[in-house]
Amino acid sequence: MKGIIFTEFLELVESKFGLDMVDDLIAACDLPSRGEYTAVGTYDHREIVDLVVELSRRTELPVPDLLQVYGEHLFGRFTVLYPQFFAGVVDGFQFLENVEGYIHVEVKKLYPSAELPTFDHERIADDRLRLVYHSSRHLEDVAEGLIRGCMKHFGSGCEITREGADSAAGGIAFIVARSPAP
Ligand code: HEM
Repeated sequence: MKGIIFTEFLELVESKFGLDMVDDLIAACDLPSRGEYTAVGTYDHREIVDLVVELSRRTELPVPDLLQVYGEHLFGRFTVLYPQFFAGVVDGFQFLENVEGYIHVEVKKLYPSAELPTFDHERIADDRLRLVYHSSRHLEDVAEGLIRGCMKHFGSGCEITREGADSAAGGIAFIVARSPAP
């Protein structure tokens, strides 16, 4: 996984829990990278899982909650780092529908070693989008946080429910119900 995913995570940990926590996490996890991430490097995605599990142990906050908060934060960073993907996009659903066919395609051109999930999308009603996430990395909690961050960025609230594993294709379906801004 690209270094940006790690550097953004450690910056979030530092801002919420302090630099000592970052140092403690890196020291406690036996990371092949030794925590020396650069934005353009590529690292084993299990390192992020190890870091989050350790953070959960130390903060007593559940791993899924930490991953979701991280996903939401990451979306905010994407708005700053990749403004080109926001041009002409009018709402959160349109943005989410662009991830598979446009955004992650461009990300793959920028970073050929990126390992990206795939998404199927279906507008099931005006205010309801079904997104099915497929990835061997099982970062569905990060995906949920990214979706929530995206809807917020475009000024909407949302309720996200999971339909559970989509057994035929092995994906996880999110139903995103749009609501007025919270
Ligand atoms: C400006 C918007 C976006 C950019 C620039 C972007 C870019 C990236 C990058 C660089 C990675 C890391 C790939 C790797 O390290 O190998 C990634 C992974 C990922 N992206 Fe996106 N992404 C964007 C939007 C989204 C949105 C809206 C979602 C959710 C619907 C999403 C879901 C994910 C997930 C869950 C991963 C983790 C890898 C996995 O699950 O297999 N991304 N993305």
